[in-house]
Amino acid sequence: DKGQHRHFMAKEIHEQPSVIARALGAWISEDRTRVSCAAEAIDWRAVPRLTIVACGTAHYASHVAKVWIERVARLPVEIEIASEFRYREPPLPRGGVTMVVSQSGETADSLAALRYAKAMGQTTLGLVNVTTSTIAREADVALPIHAGPEIGVASTKAFTAMVLCLSALAVMIARQRGVIDAAGERARLDLLSTVPRLMAETIALEPQIEALAREISEAGDALFLGRGLMYPLALEGALKLKEITYMHAEGYAAGEIKHGPIALVDETTPVIALAPHDALFDKLASNMREVIGRKGRVAMIGDADACAEMSGEVWRSVTLPRADPLVAPFLYAVAVQFIAYHAALAKGTDVDQPRNLAKSVTVE
Ligand code: F6R
Repeated sequence: DKGQHRHFMAKEIHEQPSVIARALGAWISEDRTRVSCAAEAIDWRAVPRLTIVACGTAHYASHVAKVWIERVARLPVEIEIASEFRYREPPLPRGGVTMVVSQSGETADSLAALRYAKAMGQTTLGLVNVTTSTIAREADVALPIHAGPEIGVASTKAFTAMVLCLSALAVMIARQRGVIDAAGERARLDLLSTVPRLMAETIALEPQIEALAREISEAGDALFLGRGLMYPLALEGALKLKEITYMHAEGYAAGEIKHGPIALVDETTPVIALAPHDALFDKLASNMREVIGRKGRVAMIGDADACAEMSGEVWRSVTLPRADPLVAPFLYAVAVQFIAYHAALAKGTDVDQPRNLAKSVTVE
């Protein structure tokens, strides 16, 4: 049931504040002071490394989580694409944990990666949406993301729910490893509790993002740029856009543009810069200026401070709410989802059932 929405994808984008609130509620104690999940049974002090394996959007969610887990819990994280990992058969550290992240829990390459990690003696975690899935059954510990059924082929609410649950996991690991105390844990959870409200405020900016998306839809190609936590969001934005509009889009770590992709910049290609005013903003600002200096059209998604600094220079800008750097990915996820959705509407493509794609990739 799409409710009042034209497409499942629109419904699922709009649902995200309540999905995140529900997932957070399920991952924390009743008094809301500590993370409570099945992965607590693992002794994380003895874990040398966490390996996360996934495909597509789940792979990008894992890249966001890597920053969270390394920064908050100081645990080294390796991210792998399932189809590469399973055939490369890498050595895995003794006592290590391997987590497979999958909305459907049935993705063939992700399942094969799980079986490989198990055979290598790793403790395995399955972070899934579908709790009756094969990956949930076969993992040593199954962790649900509580996103509810996702019907649109392009994943939206599962992406943000994955990031939320992985962030909560990071907080639990940090506590177990003695990196944060009880007050530190509460502070992190308070931060995560702000996500539903900030996402709702971002969703309220849909008309502005729609106007930008319509302009972007007229181009043949688009580039998404970001640094740090915004780099996986740039990859996710490009994936969403190509999936449902069939436009050519690429996501890049902004510092990489001068190593090649800046050659693509011309007067017609929109360059979408994901630009919160965080510690990396100045670096990103110089990348935006490199693009502008080559007559590129920079569409900046930033917060008020970031947009003020670039006003008069960029082609277009959309101002999102201010947010802690660790929370910003949730807001920028909504923005890139709306860009893809409204560009697809402008192009008249089939949003919920894009050509050549299936919701669950059970063959390799
Ligand atoms: C993109 C998308 C795909 C899936 C990928 C993994 O919008 O939906 O890239 O993310 O096929 O699927 P799961 O998470 O079910 O393993």
